[in-house]
Amino acid sequence: MTEEVWGHATQVLVQRSPSGAIGLPEFLEERQNQVLSALQRIGAVLFRGFSPMTDAEFSRCVGLLSKAPYKEYGDLPPHDEVLGLYKATPYPPEALIRFHNEGAHTGMWPRTQMFLMRQPATSGGEWGLADGRTVASSIDDRLLQTFQESGLRYLRRFWPGLDVDWSRFLGTDEPTEVEASAARIGLKAEWESDGVLLLSGEARALYTLGTGRRCWWNQVQLHHPRSLDPAVRSALEMACGPSRLPRDVRYGDGSAIPGDALDRIDDALEQNCLWIAGGEGDLLIVNNELMAHARAPYKGPREVLVALGDPDVARSNSTGGQTRMDSFT
Ligand SMILES: [Fe+2]
Repeated sequence: MTEEVWGHATQVLVQRSPSGAIGLPEFLEERQNQVLSALQRIGAVLFRGFSPMTDAEFSRCVGLLSKAPYKEYGDLPPHDEVLGLYKATPYPPEALIRFHNEGAHTGMWPRTQMFLMRQPATSGGEWGLADGRTVASSIDDRLLQTFQESGLRYLRRFWPGLDVDWSRFLGTDEPTEVEASAARIGLKAEWESDGVLLLSGEARALYTLGTGRRCWWNQVQLHHPRSLDPAVRSALEMACGPSRLPRDVRYGDGSAIPGDALDRIDDALEQNCLWIAGGEGDLLIVNNELMAHARAPYKGPREVLVALGDPDVARSNSTGGQTRMDSFT
């Protein structure tokens, strides 16, 4: 057996090397269509036991699985030499990176995301996956309807030294180009009176598949201040002011998302997620339009390379209208 499926409510197809001598690029050249099909149906594929890859070979795999890899993504630190590869999010190892769909807070996001485990942590650091289809089924219909009808409004303030710099996020050093660069990814830019850049934008909280099934798809957990460690939140509130935190998310009309709604979403994610301990050389490919991902706290050094598949954009209204994503089941 070189293939098996792990998980229940969230699943991953595990593809082991049929022979230790084969490299993943060669394997993908032959099995590209089957892998893409599994990503559409199941939503994630884990490759294990293939020959170790150079960064350039990883880049070749990315090219085999996406037509135009997303090479200018501002939320991840770029690889020092290979265009289109990124380092993992620089977030404190002791903190959980909560479930999110990459780029779902903007009007442009990668269709797939790929994580290559170069060095696993001494302990922890598992990849979390949560299938948006089963997560949506576990959220009560009334709350889901509220999120669908209201949509979300994300706010991001670029305080110097906190989070990434606005210049890296937007790919420009020129303040005069900020507005146009933000607009390209569906965000509005405003300079506040003390020189802090505020980016904001409306986005859906979920979307409806062609089959009528709904799929939870957003960054609520990552942006909501309640998700911060209490000590960190308190320090940020002191430094920035309680209403001007670096990240925030509200319903689309600007009203607050109440704590009990977040509790119910946390429960749905917890009931449906799958955690995967990545080994050295493992490659995890995630359909970012079906599955949210997370990273567990860890100890020791850990190194992961990241790549992003074809960018996709909102094509209809931001609060639940269908887009090309409706081809999924
Ligand atoms: Fe991420």
